[in-house]
Amino acid sequence: MASSGSADLVIVANRLPVDRVTLPDGSQEWRPSPGGLVSALEPIMRANDGTWIGWPGGTDQGHEPFDADGLSLVPMSMTPQEVEYFYEGFANATLWPLYHDLVAKPSFHREWWDAYVSVNRRFAERAAEVASEGATVWVHDYQMQLVPQMLRELRPDLRIGFYLHIPFPPAELFQQLPWRRQILEGLLGADLVGFQLPGGAQNFVRLVRQRVGHKTHRDLVYLPDGRTVRAAAFPISIDTAGYEELARSEQVEKRSAEIREALGNPRRIFLGVDRLDYTKGIYARLRAFSELIIDGHFDVEDAVFVQVATPSREQVEQYRILRDDIDRLVGHINGDLGRIGRPAISYLHASYPREEMAALYRAADIMVVTPFRDGMNLVAKEYVACRYDNDGALVLSEFAGAAEELRQAWLINPYDINGMKAALLEAYEAEEKERSRRMKAMRKTIIQHDVNAWADSFLGELAAVRPSHGKTVRPAKRS
Ligand code: F6P
Repeated sequence: MASSGSADLVIVANRLPVDRVTLPDGSQEWRPSPGGLVSALEPIMRANDGTWIGWPGGTDQGHEPFDADGLSLVPMSMTPQEVEYFYEGFANATLWPLYHDLVAKPSFHREWWDAYVSVNRRFAERAAEVASEGATVWVHDYQMQLVPQMLRELRPDLRIGFYLHIPFPPAELFQQLPWRRQILEGLLGADLVGFQLPGGAQNFVRLVRQRVGHKTHRDLVYLPDGRTVRAAAFPISIDTAGYEELARSEQVEKRSAEIREALGNPRRIFLGVDRLDYTKGIYARLRAFSELIIDGHFDVEDAVFVQVATPSREQVEQYRILRDDIDRLVGHINGDLGRIGRPAISYLHASYPREEMAALYRAADIMVVTPFRDGMNLVAKEYVACRYDNDGALVLSEFAGAAEELRQAWLINPYDINGMKAALLEAYEAEEKERSRRMKAMRKTIIQHDVNAWADSFLGELAAVRPSHGKTVRPAKRS
């Protein structure tokens, strides 16, 4: 067994909650990386003096552990080749498309797999160094699926949880992976394996039975060494109260009015907010919207579509192709349908702070979320959290995890352009009473089931699966 460190709670994720950014003058600083995971785990990290192990982006070597805002962070370096083979390659050009229903074709390369193994090993070794005797280690997402097993070999005293933020595919697709057995065994190093939806947990248990040959019963896997692993769904959520508070602030209200004004105060504003990713269905949704104008249902004076596309994984070929495709489509639509000062689509290829996002959510009448496949989609929940006025319409893909909870959205199949057009039009024309009925019900769901409830339920279950071992993680102190 490796010697133990002092952290009672260790988070292992591909990314740190801060990014190393280079400023225009060449100097560098740490910036909080935006995203749900950070705000989800921050309270629990603080309550337990937790340590977070992750990559700060880039290829600088030799970062030392440091404290940021009371959080203890352990940065992991990557070489240029690891960024290419592990991050852009195996994580984002093999696993990402394979786990998202083959929306793009996955590439299988043996040297990418080798890099995945060695990066996972380095993260596991670091976790083994910093975790105290009997500590809880919570490993996150598809980039780190081998860490649970590697860590258990080094530190059998630990309580290990794993949570997958993206979908876990059906056996028929997962089977294609040349290293399918190693991935399943990697995950089985955990005591509890969490998924967004029950379907993911069921896929996993079925695959373990078929491909690894372990005995299973419902959500339990029985290992030959006597350990039991549980696989279950824990749908992730957001800091609902935090978003609502932000949305109610004077600064956000003011900014939201400015946005409407700048867009020419149209009757309806449609909004899409996504990482620029081919799973998100951005192309199809913009086409559907433009066809509604062409068909004469409304005009560019009546409606505008604001699309925020956050730059993402820009070195990966499929992402570059997508960016060009969207650039061209927006150019065509605006060229054909726009008027002076009135584009049909207002396209922003950038990322914005939470305050600006809240102002956009407040300004938008119709939020359009149309992924072909998505683990959860937190944007849909953020929109609902900001609509404390019980107004606004959500058009949501059936293939986003969020659709299992937000049943009162206008649900669509993103492969069906006519169906999507019909839903966009219905949302455009919906009466206030109808919008409010739906929004109230969705708000109730996300107020009850926020990110704190998610983290508490995962960590509570983890303690229950491995009760005789380790220390108990303290629940976060809630304000
Ligand atoms: O959940 C999906 C996910 O890949 C996270 O693991 C990640 O933090 C986020 O999307 C952004 O992706 P990336 O780290 O590749 O920029």
